[in-house]
Amino acid sequence: MTSLKTPPAAVICGLGAALPPRAVPNAELCAELDTNDEWIRTRTGIRERRIADAGVSTEDLAVAAGAAALESSGTREVQALVLATTTPDHLMPATAPAVAARLGLTDTAAFDVAAVCTGFVYALATAAGLIATRTARTVLVVGADRMSRLPSPDDRTTRPLFADGAGAVVLRSGDATEPGALGPMVLGSDGTHRDLLLAPHGGHMQMQGPELFRHAVDRMCSVTRQAVQLAGWRIEDIDRIVPHQANARITASVGRCLMIGADRRVQNIGHVGNTGAASIPLALAQASADGTVLPGHRICLTAFGAGLTWGATTVIWPDLKSAAHPHHDTAMERP
Ligand code: UT7
Repeated sequence: MTSLKTPPAAVICGLGAALPPRAVPNAELCAELDTNDEWIRTRTGIRERRIADAGVSTEDLAVAAGAAALESSGTREVQALVLATTTPDHLMPATAPAVAARLGLTDTAAFDVAAVCTGFVYALATAAGLIATRTARTVLVVGADRMSRLPSPDDRTTRPLFADGAGAVVLRSGDATEPGALGPMVLGSDGTHRDLLLAPHGGHMQMQGPELFRHAVDRMCSVTRQAVQLAGWRIEDIDRIVPHQANARITASVGRCLMIGADRRVQNIGHVGNTGAASIPLALAQASADGTVLPGHRICLTAFGAGLTWGATTVIWPDLKSAAHPHHDTAMERP
C-alpha cells in the first residue's frame, strides 16, 4: 500500500485505440504524386495508412480511443483527461474538454498537451504528476492526431508519411512495484532545431527529412538508455521497445545502436504510417491485441518529434481486459 508520505505511482489499467476505416495504399498516392510504391516501402516501411474522411475531427478519433480505454479499465471515475495532439480542432478552446464531455465527463479537468510526436509520453508524464500530487486518482490519457491534414497535397516528401489515428490509456493511482506502474520519465527538447519539421499558422508542413532522421536516431537511443538506467534495468532486460513510428529505418537504426533486435521492436508503421501523438498508444494497443506485448514484458516507450522533443519511460506490462468489441455508435475501427 502507498503510504501518505510516498507519492502514488501511475499504473496503466486500461488501453484502447481507434483508426479511421479507410486504408490508403501507396498505389493510391502514386496516382496523385511523383512517387512510387517501392520508394515509399523501402525508404519508410509504409505500405498503407489510415486517412479519416473530411468531416472527421481529432475529437472524434480521441473519443473513440478514449471510450475503448475506459471500457478496458472498467471504470468511469476519471478526474482528469490529458489529450496529446498536434492537430487540435480549434485554436481555442483545447480539444480535451469536448472529448471529456462526449465521454460523459463534464466535471473533469481536461486539457491538451502539444509536443507533436512526443506528445503521448509528455502526456503520460503530466498525468503521472497529477496522480503523484493527488490532484487526480484516475486519469485518461489520449493521443489523437489528424496528421494527414498537415502536408501540402502535392508534397511527396511528407504526404506519404503522415496519417490519422488515436490511442489511449487509463492511469490509476497505485504502487510503484505493481505491474503497469510507469517508471521514471525522461523528457527533453531542443528548439534550436525547430525548423527541421514545422507547420506555420495556416500553412503546410515543411520537413528536412535526412537531418531530422539523424536527430531522431540519436535522441531515441540516448533517451531510451536514460529511462532504462533510471528504472534500474539494462538494455538487454527490455522485452519490447515501443518506439514512435516515424520511419521503419529509424526504428531499425535505433535497434542497431541499442542492440535490440527486430523481434523485440514493436512496429506497425507499415499499415498505419506516422500518426503523431497517437503512434505509441496505437502501436501498444495493436501489439497487446496480437500478443506481441504480453503481461510481464518489460517495455520501454520511446518517442521523438518536432520541436525537437523526445521522451521515454518504462513499464512492466500489466494484464489488461481488452476492449475488442466495436461500438456501433462510432465510425472508427478498434484495432
Ligand atoms: O515523426 C517526427 C519525426 N519524423 C522523422 O523523424 C522523419 C525523418 N526523416 C525520414 O523519415 C526520411 O528522411 C524521409 C522518409 C522523409 C526521406 O527519406 P530519405 O531516405 O532521407 O530520402 P531523401 O530526403 O534523402 O531523398 C532521397 C531521394 C531524393 O532524390 P535525389 O535528390 O536523390 O534525386 C528525393 O527527391 O528520394 C527523393 N524522394 C522521393 N522519391 C520518390 C523524396 N521523397 C520521395 C518520394 N518518392 N515520396
